[in-house]
This record gives sequence, structure tokens and C-alpha cells, in this order.
Amino acid sequence: FAPKILQGMSLLLTAGPTREAIDPVRYISNHSSGKMGFAIAKAAAEMGAKVTIVAGPVNLDTPLNVNRVNVKSTQEMLDAVMEQVHHSDIFIGCAAVCDYRVADIANDKIKKSAEEMALALVRNPDILATVSAHKQRPFTVGFAAETQDVEHYAKDKLKRKKLDMIAANDVSDPALGFNSDDNALKVYWANGQFELPATDKLTLARQLLTLIAKQMKPA
Ligand code: C5P
Repeated sequence: FAPKILQGMSLLLTAGPTREAIDPVRYISNHSSGKMGFAIAKAAAEMGAKVTIVAGPVNLDTPLNVNRVNVKSTQEMLDAVMEQVHHSDIFIGCAAVCDYRVADIANDKIKKSAEEMALALVRNPDILATVSAHKQRPFTVGFAAETQDVEHYAKDKLKRKKLDMIAANDVSDPALGFNSDDNALKVYWANGQFELPATDKLTLARQLLTLIAKQMKPA
């Protein structure tokens, strides 16, 4: 049983990795499983929210009552998010977005020849910062994966990307974070913070959404 604390709200979130093509058969990506984002989508739908998940390539089933948009590249993820952002009350950037894309995607498979080759990359847009700069901005939540000085870097990201809240996880612990079923989060907002100790990602998702609901409707 989940209390319907998000009834009448719409939540938009990103999840999983993005994938940047090099040529028709190769790409650059990362090890994000999408599990945290999908757990948030499931928990939010159970709490009564209307949920849209913009998902990179992941091997996960769509949770019940969740609208899913599949994308590959960072630009495609940004385009899908900006299409939905106007009618969203909450945005959570949970995706592990590729910060760079290949400058010129080859039309044909690249043949091996020289001993060394260089791949030119260009910066991708920041989806989270684009959402938080939008005039009809939803309550905007970011994730931060850090290996050191978690609090310092998370608080810096909160300010720099003009977020309402940031959930940081220490990815230096191999038992938690990427790919694992468990995680632990340190959550920061402008004038507060809360620690969510290690547990399964669905429990953590419910706790995070409860914190978000409280911050949106201060008592
Ligand atoms: O700056 P950094 O990439 O560590 O910030 C992580 C947060 O920003 C995550 O919420 C991630 O989903 C989001 N992000 C994004 N677009 C990018 C890079 C990161 O939305 N291009």
C-alpha cells in the first residue's frame, strides 16, 4: 500500500544511459542500468502521479501505469524531455547522460588501418540545466554520482544547475549505485538535507518522493 501523496501531479524523469553513435555499428555509452529511475517511476505511479519516463537503452520492463518514451542519444533525450516539460510538476534527471558526442558520425563502418586513431568529441547539452532554466519550470531534481567529497560536489551542482533538490550517491562503494539493486542517497536542498541509508532502490525511491512532496508543499 502506498499513500497517494502525488495524486494529481505529473512527474517527468530521465533514466538509463544515453548512447552516442560512432558509426553504424559502434557507440559510446556507460554502465547505467536504469534501475534507480525505473524504481522512481514505479513508486511515483503507485503514489498517484501521472508518470512519463524518458529512457535510454535499458533492459527493464515498463512499470504499471507509466508512460515510456525510448531514446538513444543525449540530443534525443533532451528533445523528448522538452516536449513534455510544459505539463510536468516535477522533473527528475536520473539518467547517466553522455556528456560528449562524436563530432562526425561515420556513414559507413570505420575500417581498421592506422595503429592509432583519434575520435573528436563535442559537448552535449545539459538536459537538467536546460529544464531548470525553463520559464515554466517544474520542481527540478538532479542526481549526482560522486567518488569523493560527495557533499561539496553535490551542493555545488545544486547551485550551479539551479536545482530544487539533489540526490547524491557515493559510487566508490561497489556494493551500491550503478547496476546494483541497492543504493544510499544524501539529499540536499537550499536549506536542508537528509540522509537515506542503504536499502533497495524501490524503498529509496519512495523515501525520495516523500521528501520531494514535503518540499513542494511546506507545512
Ligand atoms: O554534472 P553531472 O553530470 O554530474 O550532473 C548529474 C546530473 O545532471 C544528473 O541528474 C544527470 O541526469 C544530469 N545531466 C543531464 N544532462 C547532461 C549531464 C547530466 O541532465 N548532459
